[in-house]
Amino acid sequence: MKYDFDEIVDRSRTGAEKYTGLEKLYGNPEAIPLWVADMDFKAAQPILDAVRERTENGIFGYTVRPEKYYSTVCSFQKRRKNWDMDEKLMSVSLGVVPSICMLISELTEPEDRIIIQTPVYRPFYNAVRDAGRELLESPLLESDGCFYMDFEDIEEKARQGARYMILCSPHNPVGRVWTKKELETLGDICIRYGVRVISDEIHSDLVLWGNRHIPFAAVSEEIRKLTITCISATKTFNLAGLQNSITVFPDIETKNIFDRAWGRLHIECSNCFSLVCTQAAFEHGEEWLEQLITYIEGNVNLVMDYFSSFIPQIKPVRPEGTYLIWLDCRQLGMTGRQLTDFMVNKAGIAMSAGTYFGKNAEGYMRMNVACPRAIVQKALQQLKEAVDALEA
Ligand SMILES: Cc1ncc(COP(=O)(O)O)c(C=O)c1O
Repeated sequence: MKYDFDEIVDRSRTGAEKYTGLEKLYGNPEAIPLWVADMDFKAAQPILDAVRERTENGIFGYTVRPEKYYSTVCSFQKRRKNWDMDEKLMSVSLGVVPSICMLISELTEPEDRIIIQTPVYRPFYNAVRDAGRELLESPLLESDGCFYMDFEDIEEKARQGARYMILCSPHNPVGRVWTKKELETLGDICIRYGVRVISDEIHSDLVLWGNRHIPFAAVSEEIRKLTITCISATKTFNLAGLQNSITVFPDIETKNIFDRAWGRLHIECSNCFSLVCTQAAFEHGEEWLEQLITYIEGNVNLVMDYFSSFIPQIKPVRPEGTYLIWLDCRQLGMTGRQLTDFMVNKAGIAMSAGTYFGKNAEGYMRMNVACPRAIVQKALQQLKEAVDALEA
């Protein structure tokens, strides 16, 4: 079927964080919300049908995973990424961030050193610091508006005794889909120094322009042995409110440690809706996903063209994956605080501040374009007027 991503759906009374948080976080409930990384699109029809069918049963008691749950996940990953996964080395949990936090607290010791590549998704910082582990920041290198890993720096940090690295692949917020060569070089350092990797691949199905996501664990058998991968249907299919994800382990010992930790919290069963939706999504959601990717590419093109024609002071970084655009606003000459204030109160747009992702990201903003095109157009227009007014 043909999906209508132009449809404007009112989320304001659903408790959507993106809308209800506007007043509290930005002090402007009227701002166009382009911050929280979820989409303003309805889920794929097979998912809606599956939920309806499940609801009609009327009983939502304790639920175990259906037999073919993991095989559905594996088939999807094989079809889309040619990744051969072992069903016996997978676990379900309540989300990627809870899984990363659990992995850090269960697999590392106090004061262990953990590398992250900054700027990066804020909860990576918190997961390390809140567990009392030492954070080693390896800033990404920027060249001609594109971002790269700093291998020399990562190697230096590995030499200093880093035990783990949290990899963001594709990278939020800079939108990189790491190449095989980059992943091999990183993997080589990790193998030489015994650094294990938690690879957050939650954005890995949202890859644009024919780029290919390569699961870190699929680069080589040696790399697989040191990698724990987090994936989910929630980002891909806009199901974040269901709080569900899948963790893929290198060996049964590591999986058992993780499962025991969830078991201690009595969270072995799953939310019955998240099971139904994840399965419907991975089994029948690809038609929607293909159309979504094309629509997001259209929105990204619109943003790129608009900035270069009408707001050349702001330089968007063309994402290779994700629906997030990293905007270089440094030419406006504002501090992080001034920039957020300008965006919210002068342009009427609520985006994520660069400083949320790291102290090396002052002057940047992250724009979420997973919304109907008319909203993106309106936001761009408002931003142009606000920037023009600065110079008037
Ligand atoms: C890189 C990354 N990891 C994890 C998450 C959140 O995952 P979950 O909702 O499963 O905890 C996000 C959400 O934006 C993200 O961008």
